Amino acid sequence: MIDEVRDRIAAATRIVAFTGAGMSVESGIPTFRGPEGLWRKFRAEDLATAGAFRRNPKLVWEWYDSRRQNMARSEPNAGHIALAELQRRKPEFTLITQNIDGLHDRAGSADILKLHGDIWVLRCVRCGREVEDRRVPLEDLPPRCECGGMLRPAVVWFGEYLDPGVMDAAYRAAVNADMFLTIGTSAIVHPAAGLIGLAKEHGAVVVEINPAETAYSERVDYPIRGAAGEILPQLIPPEE
Ligand code: OAD
Repeated sequence: MIDEVRDRIAAATRIVAFTGAGMSVESGIPTFRGPEGLWRKFRAEDLATAGAFRRNPKLVWEWYDSRRQNMARSEPNAGHIALAELQRRKPEFTLITQNIDGLHDRAGSADILKLHGDIWVLRCVRCGREVEDRRVPLEDLPPRCECGGMLRPAVVWFGEYLDPGVMDAAYRAAVNADMFLTIGTSAIVHPAAGLIGLAKEHGAVVVEINPAETAYSERVDYPIRGAAGEILPQLIPPEE
């Protein structure tokens, strides 16, 4: 199956890669729902909602700051690097990610559609200003904006809407794709996961790269069981 998918990727033009937490497992970042998943240890309601932040901004920030520290220690893996290489070869390539860790950026990917935001960007809850801040650890929690308001991580929390501009661009890319790679996602969180079905309905060949079965496995054209960091370099081999 790997050889066939490699040839189809080489022949495709409008390729979409859609990534989830599994993409960064080999970089040392935990997923949400596996046996070691974050939602096994923490309650999303206490840490990843606007209400939780209003009740206890320091606690929420301690959690995000510890995740930032882990992410800052991590390096992009061979899978991130292969996707950045694919973008250099295919001018109409689109990368859509649910990840907030910034590893795709660090691997060299461009114009990334970050559906769930970016942990390295902070947004003021009072004036709405956004600033990039890569310091780890952050000194005072919660960090403050110049206007005096509290800064929050510019990520999408439960109960919040995804950025409509980003979502629109993702829908358009999925509808136009001739090839759609779904990588390292359990494909159960909507609206993000709906992109897979949308791409399929509009004629894309859908490839899934995941060591486990997912909610979409039965509907994909090529379910490849394996780790992103091992499979992607085989699908996107160096050019001779
Ligand atoms: P999940 O934790 O739900 O799923 C991670 C997937 O990665 C699983 O299907 C694993 O089998 C797979 N996986 C594990 N190791 C892998 C590897 N080495 N290579 C490839 N795949 C591997 O994470 P997501 O699907 O990303 O949302 O979760 C979606 C959203 O739910 C997240 O963006 C987050 C979470 O709540 C928000 O915070 C809004």
